[in-house]
Amino acid sequence: MRGQGQSPISPNQADALALESLLSFWAESGVDTAIGEATVDRLAERVRPIRAPAAPAPVAEASYAAGPSAQAATTSPDAAAAIAEARRLAAGAETLEDLKAAIAGFDGCSLKFEGARQAVFARGEPDAPVMVIGEGPGGDEDVQGAPFVGRAGKLLDKMLKAAGIEGRVFITNTVFWRPPGNRTPTPQEQLVCAPFVERAIALVQPKILLLAGGASAKFMLQRSEGILSLRGRWCDWRSADGAMELPAMPTLHPAFLLRQPAAKKKAWGDLLMLAERLDRPDRPG
Ligand code: URA
Repeated sequence: MRGQGQSPISPNQADALALESLLSFWAESGVDTAIGEATVDRLAERVRPIRAPAAPAPVAEASYAAGPSAQAATTSPDAAAAIAEARRLAAGAETLEDLKAAIAGFDGCSLKFEGARQAVFARGEPDAPVMVIGEGPGGDEDVQGAPFVGRAGKLLDKMLKAAGIEGRVFITNTVFWRPPGNRTPTPQEQLVCAPFVERAIALVQPKILLLAGGASAKFMLQRSEGILSLRGRWCDWRSADGAMELPAMPTLHPAFLLRQPAAKKKAWGDLLMLAERLDRPDRPG
């Protein structure tokens, strides 16, 4: 507040104050990344054009699975080329380190060019029996370069420890770059990253998937129900070519649990089911 006796502010100072006030309003509203000057149509298909060396895969073949969200994302040659390139890079990765490097070098996911600082691949045990798949990196993950390292990640770690599966998990996400403003990744973004997720599963060879949050569960399982009806029930995850199949437990996202602590009981029940199945002796036949 400017008091009596102070000299009037100049037009430049007024502009600076107005700008400061606008920026702090945006920051409080969660707008913390400057991307570009033109508005982005989030409903339009947004797949970064890729110059794939091979001819683009036929659109139908590029589909991750026969689910509704996948089909919406497989209508353009750009999407098909980006997926073909992701598949080519993923197939060439012999180790998790190779895969991490392949993801970092991949330019087909538009999120990479929307303010993300770096690619965020995975953390955890390379031969873990449980693979946790979240939605996408948030602000802390973007800075630190590892998934689930913020408040939600700390809660996830606590829950995994309490369920006795700490140190038996490999943690990744459906997309590898932070969506601007921490929005939910779109099925299109998930689709172009899916070959890398599948390759991670092939390399780690987990026994069980834990799908954290609606955007992860719906995409990985190609289901349209909300997470509140999907969670707590064993589902079958299948790779795009049908060669891999795993039991998957959809559960509530830890960030949701931070906002709705009363829901922790449900997520805890999901984790106990998972821990029980993990330690169940394999029965022949
Ligand atoms: N939320 C996610 O889904 N993944 C992360 O890595 C962090 C927060």
